[in-house]
Amino acid sequence: MKILAIESSCDETACAVVKDGRNIVSSIVATQIDEHKLYGGVVPEIASRRHCENIAGVCDEALLQAGLRLSDCDAVAVTYAPGLIGALLVGVNFAKSLALAINKPLIPVHHIKGHIAANYIAHSELEPPYLCLVASGGHSHIIKVNDYTKFETIGKTLDDAAGEAFDKAARSMGFPYPGGIHVDKAAKLGDSKRYKLPIPKTENPYDFSFSGLKTAVINLVHNAEQKGEDINVNDLAASFQHTACDILTSKFIRAALDNGYKTITLAGGVAANSGLRETLTKQADLHGMKLYIPPISLCGDNAAMIGSQGYYEYLAGNIADSSLNAVASLKL
Ligand code: KG4
Ligand code: ZN
Repeated sequence: MKILAIESSCDETACAVVKDGRNIVSSIVATQIDEHKLYGGVVPEIASRRHCENIAGVCDEALLQAGLRLSDCDAVAVTYAPGLIGALLVGVNFAKSLALAINKPLIPVHHIKGHIAANYIAHSELEPPYLCLVASGGHSHIIKVNDYTKFETIGKTLDDAAGEAFDKAARSMGFPYPGGIHVDKAAKLGDSKRYKLPIPKTENPYDFSFSGLKTAVINLVHNAEQKGEDINVNDLAASFQHTACDILTSKFIRAALDNGYKTITLAGGVAANSGLRETLTKQADLHGMKLYIPPISLCGDNAAMIGSQGYYEYLAGNIADSSLNAVASLKL
């Protein structure tokens, strides 16, 4: 079954063709980062307008690369929640029109479920049940994946998401948006023991809190500026990354041990972080757990992951009609 998938929840306009949920036939991602960078973050109005301008061309390109016509596709899947509402609406309406034009099913996909499904594309043997850590710009969740379409969140962030903390800490260090990747690069050159940063306590041991860590970095930079002292950015990046990865890894491994999981997966934009990949791999090995991580190309937002999850939603009978609406915030 060939699914044409569309993703437009934030600042990437993406379209892919995915076969049987596991194989990418084609995948196009048009990023708007260069434009949003000028404002230090995503400007929702601009994002919606760029999606509107680019979505038809991106879908044409995905079909061209797949060597298919639209009518060769068996269904259309689309991210309908959560995300920037104006951005989502562009993708949802475009997907509706395509499905209507070829008279094929329209499959609504939850963005976070899409991130989780990225690992099905990369690892053909992976099957539920397993425990997943999703760390992205908008979410930090520990999720029991009981089946392809059955999820249970056992931990989440109480304030900032991991990626948000990376981006805000990065900004105070002078890096452009999105700063996560710049922190990652600088951290490789720095000493992670140089700056002592706080590790927050949460009532539920699987919940996260990143705002204290983020604020500690911002305060450290401001205080140094006021005193006319120099900050070693590489050391600060390394110290921040080490602390953030330690928090994510220790809580996730704790959750896996407590709940008896031997199979664990990592997903979301922050899964691209080299420190997190390394720390988690070491901890998983130490505890005899099988860890699956997507390749970097499938960590950030893309439509292939939506096509993968769309396949399993289709098999579970989750089909939308032409009244499908976009939803800005929606639990799993
Ligand atoms: O999943 P994603 O592409 O979009 C959302 O659904 O939010 O995640 C984007 C987030 C941004 O905060 C970005 O800075 C972060 O992922 N990110 C990274 C790295 N690459 C992307 N954070 C840390 N290290 C990286 N290498
Ligand atoms: Zn995402």
